[in-house]
Amino acid sequence: MITSAPAKFILLGEHAVVYGFPAIAAPLNGLCAHASVHPAPVGAGLRIEALDMNEVLPVELEADAVDNALALTAQKVLKALNVAPPDAVIRVTSHIPMASGLGSGAAVSTAVARAVINAVDADIDDDALNDIIYDIEKLYHGTPSGVDNTVVVYQKPVYFLRGQPPQLLDIGGALHFIIADTGEPSLTKVTVADVRRLYDEQPHVVGNTLADIGAIVERARDAIRNGDAVALGSLMTANHHSLRALNVSSDALERLVDAAIDCGALGAKLSGGGRGGHMIALVAPDTIEAVSAALSSAGAVHIVHTQLGADHDHNP
Ligand code: MEV
Repeated sequence: MITSAPAKFILLGEHAVVYGFPAIAAPLNGLCAHASVHPAPVGAGLRIEALDMNEVLPVELEADAVDNALALTAQKVLKALNVAPPDAVIRVTSHIPMASGLGSGAAVSTAVARAVINAVDADIDDDALNDIIYDIEKLYHGTPSGVDNTVVVYQKPVYFLRGQPPQLLDIGGALHFIIADTGEPSLTKVTVADVRRLYDEQPHVVGNTLADIGAIVERARDAIRNGDAVALGSLMTANHHSLRALNVSSDALERLVDAAIDCGALGAKLSGGGRGGHMIALVAPDTIEAVSAALSSAGAVHIVHTQLGADHDHNP
């Protein structure tokens, strides 16, 4: 039995979402983390093998200070279910690039949590699982808003406000996105802490920028509801300019955003924590190939096309 969890992409509202403004995000179902459960001899206990990361992790129910996210995820799931560790090996693999704004940590934790649940033949609803994965995100990412784990666990495009149940995104027509990787890793924890520092230094200026992002996201939600790709595109680019003002862009991100827009994308922005990682461009279907080629020439190391709306209840 294989469990999986998708990557996520943030369409709009990253960073401001940490301060209580809305964000819009969706799963990227083509890129997933997977976990599988294998039997182990009686008395062997539970072990997680993260072979991509060269890690073999024993899971003990009573161990304090577990310093690995996957072992801690398994421990929290077992405690929530009030069961002992099964005799099993859970193998986890992921196709999601790490430290690139696509929620790889939340996806790997979610795949492992679901594998543990299977291994003990139990069930946990998505709300309870989301709480567990959020706890893990908090331990490893400082002050996350909860948007990443929410999209990864529920696997649906959402309009998200911190501390509130996610609202399913109403999508009025097909929207095509190209998501491109700068190839430069960047830790969300670092950029979130840097934005916090900037906010503490200049609360008024940064507060205004965050509020601008919030207003952009509200207007973008209407544009998505109306299937208005042109309006959405310019809101995405405006959002990128606000993120640049928060100092979370990078030369590579600027190159890719400019390349997409110069080649006819309706809008483009960095996606996720920034300073590297991924960017996203909204494109008309007839420019998908040209924009992808332009991104590749501008240095993108990996490019995927995804769609929201129309025939897709979420992206393929
Ligand atoms: C990271 O995917 C999104 C950020 O807004 C951080 C968060 O919401 O926790 C940068």
